Amino acid sequence: MGIKFHEKEKQFHLYNSKISYCIGVCPDGEVGQLYFGKRINENQTVTYRQTRGIRPVCCNRQEDENYTKELSLLEYPAFGNGDFRNPAYEIRQKNGSRVTNLVYRSHEIYSGKKPIPGLPAAYTNSDDEAMTLEIECFDEIADIEVTLFYTIFENYPILCRHARIKNAGSEEITLTRALSCCIDLPDNEYNWIQFEGAWGRERYPAERSLSNGITSIESMRGHSSANYNPFVVIKRPNTDENAGDAFGLNFVYSGNFITQADADTYGKLRILMGINPRWFEWGLKSGEVFDTPEVIISYTSDGLNSLSQGIHHFMNNNLIRSAYKNKPRPILLNNWEATEMDFTEEKILKIAKKGKEAGVELFVLDDGWFGKRNDDYAGLGDWFVNTEKLPQGVKGLSEKINDLGLKFGIWIEPEMVNEDSDLFRAHPEWVLGAPDRPRTLGRHQMVLDFSKKEVVDNIYSQLYEVFSNASISYVKWDMNRSITECYSQGENASVQGTIYHKYILGVYDLYERLKKAFPDILFESCASGGSRFDAGIMYYAPQAWCSDDTDGHERVKIQYGTSYGYPVSTVGAHVSASPNLQTGRSMSITDRANIACFGTFGYELDLNEISDEEFETVKEQIVFMKEYRSLFQYGDLYRLSSPFEKNLAAWMVVSEDKKTAIAAVYKNLKSPNEGQQRIRLKGLKDDLVYSINGKENVYGDLLMNGGLSIPSGDDLWYMGDTDFTSRLYVLKAE
Ligand code: GLA
Repeated sequence: MGIKFHEKEKQFHLYNSKISYCIGVCPDGEVGQLYFGKRINENQTVTYRQTRGIRPVCCNRQEDENYTKELSLLEYPAFGNGDFRNPAYEIRQKNGSRVTNLVYRSHEIYSGKKPIPGLPAAYTNSDDEAMTLEIECFDEIADIEVTLFYTIFENYPILCRHARIKNAGSEEITLTRALSCCIDLPDNEYNWIQFEGAWGRERYPAERSLSNGITSIESMRGHSSANYNPFVVIKRPNTDENAGDAFGLNFVYSGNFITQADADTYGKLRILMGINPRWFEWGLKSGEVFDTPEVIISYTSDGLNSLSQGIHHFMNNNLIRSAYKNKPRPILLNNWEATEMDFTEEKILKIAKKGKEAGVELFVLDDGWFGKRNDDYAGLGDWFVNTEKLPQGVKGLSEKINDLGLKFGIWIEPEMVNEDSDLFRAHPEWVLGAPDRPRTLGRHQMVLDFSKKEVVDNIYSQLYEVFSNASISYVKWDMNRSITECYSQGENASVQGTIYHKYILGVYDLYERLKKAFPDILFESCASGGSRFDAGIMYYAPQAWCSDDTDGHERVKIQYGTSYGYPVSTVGAHVSASPNLQTGRSMSITDRANIACFGTFGYELDLNEISDEEFETVKEQIVFMKEYRSLFQYGDLYRLSSPFEKNLAAWMVVSEDKKTAIAAVYKNLKSPNEGQQRIRLKGLKDDLVYSINGKENVYGDLLMNGGLSIPSGDDLWYMGDTDFTSRLYVLKAE
């Protein structure tokens, strides 16, 4: 790994064993893109790029009338100076001009990586893991300085980028656009994969080819959303799971975002990612700076599976911060689908006791324990116990749960308030809402104005009381509606364009303060299931409830799609009751667990209500999960067959030493008299002999090239089973 500066040519080459990222100062002083892809020799300088046109519309250098920004590949392009594509940033100056032009001034190269104040960001565990290049650019007319940050990591084909914009002048300026990165590529023969959906069907991959014009996804919901995840893949058309070039962009941010790919009519491609500029206006007084959130940019020349693996290991090692970092996650039992808000202490203890008998480690009390929370019309904002349900408080219940030999966890939704709450009665000015307009409700609740420090302070104090007075090991932090009428009451018109971003900064601030005060608590993020499943939130909460849809069949698709951009360790996944609450579909307890095990694993049902036989199965599942959860959560994941393409979906995890692996196969619909199928496994060692579920012994090379037979051995799976069935195959080598 290194960052080489070619002084004469003013070129920078960031490289590690897998990737090269080359940028340089263009003849007109702007920083331009030279090469991004597979590692090339760092001693060369790059000469191929096109910045001169035969008949350019504009000329950006008097001394060379063929030189034009329109054809340049740029690192942080401006608006109004001859580059007609979308810019990375835009600044409204006092005189009304929005024209700027950045030129290189200086740079700094150092080991390690600096944090971004107030924002989540990847980090290094030691300085020798990464190197950072900071390039300072300036515009002397607008009096702004922009610092571009690039960090390259030794062990991952990954580069992190963000920008810092400073008002170096004396007059206030307004940022109306401040994206995090621009990647200009010299050709546009690429496909784009986005991860889309809605509540209950989050992060389905959808691929299309980029033809001339802009392809774009965004969120204006105030959170990253289930509709479009802030993760995209740009790949060569023929790239598949096993081979070919691909780039991944993970936005380390949980609010409104935009991601675009602009395939222009000169055959180039511009990729942009950042905070959504819609209703973003950020004033910068003299000397003030604005930091954009970070983008994690990954690259592979070895196909999508390898791209995902790089992201998985990077997130586990360099993004997630928790006492549970790289540790097996506790097997939990959550009462939500068992009781919803209708519970007593006695009922909860009965459920928890059965969980303990089954072997679970953590009991989580979900929604309904606080204020007047008996339905979703009341209580949010009042984070004190409802003593009618829990007469001895959260403290009393948590101690009783601890006495059973279980850890205790609790649900909160700190960003929300119900009209029927003491908090709203005392502070109606603390909710977001446009003047003289009704507020749009979502689940009968309003959004607290987290752009106001006093609101975050109040919620912090309330939660501090709860967490410090009871024995709490885990917190599920929910967020059940999007932001509408985003307006901060009592604030000037001029700051209203900052509120969406300040809101998220408030969320991050609350997380940061609670994490500092309670470093051992395991946070799980949730937003009506998977509506805030992003790299930003992972910095605070190392796992996130993947979806409210716990139907095993649906979960195969949701978790498969999620795996492109996020590691298994982040995927909150539970076994719930059958028939399923969301789909009405029935599945055996084994099939439900066979998908939940590719996640943090737990149960979300009343184990008292299942049959004795099922309960025995649950006990076995927990023993199995305790043995293999580190492999599931931290092993190398290989996607083998897609549920979006095939009736038989499959994937597997392989241990670092390749001696243990678990493959899972999920059948969608059964058809009669099916033939035998083979799934070619991956990631094994050619010359190791693997036992399959303790029976057959087969060489790795045969399993990878010939395949695993489905059904396998004497397991005549297809004979007895119905639709939506599955199998796990544990492979072990000496
Ligand atoms: C959301 C969550 C659920 C549950 C409920 C409680 O819908 O996604 O898991 O916590 O809220 O109200």
